[in-house]
Amino acid sequence: MDRFNVAVVGAGAVGQEMLKTLAERNFPINELKVLARSAREMTVDGRSYQVRETVPEEFDGVDIALFAGTEGESGASKLFAWEAAGRGAVVIDNSATFRMDDRVPLVVPECNPDDLAWHKGIIANPNCSTIQMVHALKPLHDRSRITRIVVSTYQAVSGTGRDAITELHDQSALLVAGKAIDPPAVYPFQIGFNCLPQIGGFRPDGYTSEEWKMVAETHKILGDNEIKVTPTTVRVPVYNGHSESVYIETEEKITADEARELLAKFPGIKVVDDLKPTEGDPNCRTYPMPIEASGRDETFVGRVREDPFIATGLNMWIVSDNLRKGAALNAVQIAELLVAKGMLKGR
Ligand SMILES: NC(=O)c1ccc[n+]([C@@H]2O[C@H](COP(=O)([O-])OP(=O)(O)OC[C@H]3O[C@@H](n4cnc5c(N)ncnc54)[C@H](OP(=O)(O)O)[C@@H]3O)[C@@H](O)[C@H]2O)c1
Repeated sequence: MDRFNVAVVGAGAVGQEMLKTLAERNFPINELKVLARSAREMTVDGRSYQVRETVPEEFDGVDIALFAGTEGESGASKLFAWEAAGRGAVVIDNSATFRMDDRVPLVVPECNPDDLAWHKGIIANPNCSTIQMVHALKPLHDRSRITRIVVSTYQAVSGTGRDAITELHDQSALLVAGKAIDPPAVYPFQIGFNCLPQIGGFRPDGYTSEEWKMVAETHKILGDNEIKVTPTTVRVPVYNGHSESVYIETEEKITADEARELLAKFPGIKVVDDLKPTEGDPNCRTYPMPIEASGRDETFVGRVREDPFIATGLNMWIVSDNLRKGAALNAVQIAELLVAKGMLKGR
């Protein structure tokens, strides 16, 4: 079997999760290099890595480059992605830079694997909140076209990267000790014991950039620009694992039982929605929670129920590890699919 020269660009929350995922899934690596802004030694899961500074020449001889650098003009993707592709690497990029670029497929392997066929050197990984939602909605959309999605998210701080994890940790410790917190550095307001209904910057229409990502990316992945998507994205004081309350309307009615059956059969989805009578509460059910989804690969779905007033309406609760399926795992799955389809030249 071919083996591949792999570069992971970015050594933060997602980059480290990529290193773990590549090792856990035994990706056929020939040589692995880890690139970031600055060189140093780093230990992840007991393995030590020599991090090197990202310069164009580092991409010579790389077969596949998994990008997990920060967003923006000075981010790794803007500076190095086409450069890496030009030097022969297939780039899988986690940033928002290329997601809506017509030259770049935006892929969730369970939803639109065939879009890989038209890549021109860069493949984009969708936003974490979009990935878990479209992953769970795809089997329902295949059964009967989804016409409307109303989604509210409850997003963990790890989605903002390592500095945000530290900010929640430090604020929580100070607040529990009854002390004043330092001025927030990552978020605009206190995140400890609070909820922030703002992810990304505000646009003139009052929606945030994260909310518009969920609209545009859902359309591109499901190949249907007519789906009426209306999101509210909220940052909550959870370390890891995004949750979403999702309401959909479909062209034909899908019952809650049928939805659970379709979801349970779909790759990577785990339904957690069983009746679990307990003393004092005979109607108690199981449901997904971020503390249980964290560290797991699946997208979990529960609280599936029919709308009491709209015949074609369904509600559900979708939870997934934003660093894994929402970022690193999805990227590695794309790499695995390229290998399986014979689309990656190895050695
Ligand atoms: N966290 C999530 O759940 C999630 C989910 C989906 C997508 N994403 C996206 O994934 C990317 C990485 O996010 P993260 O949470 O891992 O961020 P992070 O924890 O802040 O880490 C960012 C990493 O990028 C490196 N970097 C920044 N600019 C660079 C440059 N010009 N050249 C090379 N390396 C550079 C940094 O290098 P140094 O270590 O040397 O500073 C750092 O290692 C972002 O685009 C983010 O939007 C994140």
